[in-house]
Amino acid sequence: MPEILELKKSFGKFTALNSLSMNITDNSIFGFVGPNGAGKTTTMKIMAGLLSADSGSIYINGEDVLKNPQKIREKIGYMPDFFGVYDDLKVTEYMDFYAGTYYIPYADRPTLIDSLLEIVDLSDKKDAYVDSLSRGMKQRLCLARSLIHDPNLIILDEPASGLDPRARVEMKEVLKQLKEMGKTIIVSSHILPELAEMCSEIGIIDHGQLVTQGTVNEIMNKIHKNRIVRVKTSSAKDTLIRLLKEQTKVGEITENADNIEFVFNGNDNDLTSILRNIIMNGIPVFSFGEAEGNLEEIFMTVTGGDEK
Ligand SMILES: Nc1ncnc2c1ncn2[C@@H]1O[C@H](COP(=O)(O)OP(=O)(O)OP(=O)(O)O)[C@@H](O)[C@H]1O
Ligand SMILES: [Mg+2]
Repeated sequence: MPEILELKKSFGKFTALNSLSMNITDNSIFGFVGPNGAGKTTTMKIMAGLLSADSGSIYINGEDVLKNPQKIREKIGYMPDFFGVYDDLKVTEYMDFYAGTYYIPYADRPTLIDSLLEIVDLSDKKDAYVDSLSRGMKQRLCLARSLIHDPNLIILDEPASGLDPRARVEMKEVLKQLKEMGKTIIVSSHILPELAEMCSEIGIIDHGQLVTQGTVNEIMNKIHKNRIVRVKTSSAKDTLIRLLKEQTKVGEITENADNIEFVFNGNDNDLTSILRNIIMNGIPVFSFGEAEGNLEEIFMTVTGGDEK
């Protein structure tokens, strides 16, 4: 289990990491969230052995990265937030170049490169020039490159930034696939809902310190006791509102253009019984679930707003 302990880093007089501690469960997709300047990139670079820390430790596979950066680098894949690509190379040449930097034998490279390009869905671009790839494709190529030495911990700094919605979905799929392969993935973003869907755990950082960490639900429960539930009904809005008002554990009810939201402070069983009551009263429900965006709210609550 990767573990960060009291990590400190200053740039001159500025404290970028102020005693940051964080645990990451093996074989999870860990979302590392925080506003601009929170210290995400700094932490990730230190983890990848690319930047020194002032003090603290980072244990990966029982090894202190800070004491032995070279050894651990072999087990870590790192995808930076900005990457230099070699535009005048073809996709396979580019991959081959990185295979070389990890001393992967020539004979093994074609199969390895094919399988990595397959994972990131770039098989049909093998002979294309890197220059000619779209931004999303370049990002996936960069991810493939970071996997070349088969690392078990993959650190991805904002892998979805600058991608259109479809490319984001594709990136998420690739990350889920890597988890299926048994890898541990740390992915940073300042877009919380995006991470919530694919991450098993989330750590929120602000001003170089961990604000909170846990599963999405744990964090929600910790910070925002009341969940927001959204119901969509094709008709009978008034009946629904009347019925909701009679339920225990239901707080404020809001009527929106195409749905009704209510604040809910019970457990999952209570929620099931509310849904049952709605159905038994003949109200035609076609959607019932927790409203997304709650997480964004939590983020604003715990960090006190995005940009300070
Ligand atoms: N080389 C450096 N020299 C001076 N200050 C730095 C350096 N690198 C980072 N910082 C500062 O440390 C703080 C944390 O930066 P970092 O890049 O880790 O934030 P981040 O969470 O990745 O933000 P973003 O969401 O914008 O990527 C910022 O205030 C930044 O200005
Ligand atoms: Mg950053």
